[in-house]
Amino acid sequence: MPLLDAQTITMRFGGVVALRDVTVTQSANETLGMIGPNGSGKTTFVNVVTGHLKPQKGAYRFDGTSLIGRKPNRIAGAGLTRTYQAVRIFRELTTRENIATALVDAQAPLDEQGVLEAIDFVGLGGRLDANAGGMTLYEQRRLELLMRLVQRPKLIMLDEPVGGLSAGEVRAMITLLSRLKSRSTIFVIEHTMKAIRELADRVVVLLAGEKIADGPPSDILSDQRVIQQYLGSADA
Ligand SMILES: Nc1ncnc2c1ncn2[C@@H]1O[C@H](COP(=O)(O)OP(=O)(O)OP(=O)(O)O)[C@@H](O)[C@H]1O
Ligand SMILES: [Mg+2]
Repeated sequence: MPLLDAQTITMRFGGVVALRDVTVTQSANETLGMIGPNGSGKTTFVNVVTGHLKPQKGAYRFDGTSLIGRKPNRIAGAGLTRTYQAVRIFRELTTRENIATALVDAQAPLDEQGVLEAIDFVGLGGRLDANAGGMTLYEQRRLELLMRLVQRPKLIMLDEPVGGLSAGEVRAMITLLSRLKSRSTIFVIEHTMKAIRELADRVVVLLAGEKIADGPPSDILSDQRVIQQYLGSADA
């Protein structure tokens, strides 16, 4: 049984079809990458399965349970969580206070020892009293990830985790995410093919709301249609 099972999802915004009959499955411990041009429906897919948008059509299950009609906080409580393309943290609060809000929101968070270890894992031990809004984007992305980790998710959906980072930060984030795999199953949307190549076991390609390819990164990233439609214009 797949951990995430999304079948024939269709999501329209007025006349815009953001997703058309998109089927995506992911097994536990499999790292799934999702790529596609701007506006191809990647974030919309995450918004649907995490309960932020209600699709017109389709069925989606997590860990064997239907998620249709469930609110994001209940879905997160079941272990399916996500980060955002534009980081969502409490900018006016410190790192420590941001962690505290994540702990309060969780049903079964890490214990104190686990939280300390997770802080160490993302490398924010020296920034606990820093104001989150004043931190670098790389620190903020790690804080957002930490806020999910303390909630002990089974699947984390990362929406462009290396977006906006410098070359050195991209390398460091990829290393961090490869280590994250032993803690949680990961779904990762990226435009940076280096991240997809290094992290993903399988890649799904969206184009104008439709899934056009699904397979191992080595096949997908050398597929002529994918190259023509997307990689030719991307940071490959
Ligand atoms: N809440 C919304 N209301 C109206 N249209 C939306 C909404 N969210 C997304 N769309 C539209 O749906 C389509 C898919 O958008 P989406 O954000 O999922 O793309 P994406 O693949 O994540 O792109 P990017 O790589 O730029 O982040 C776009 O045409 C977008 O304008
Ligand atoms: Mg997006």
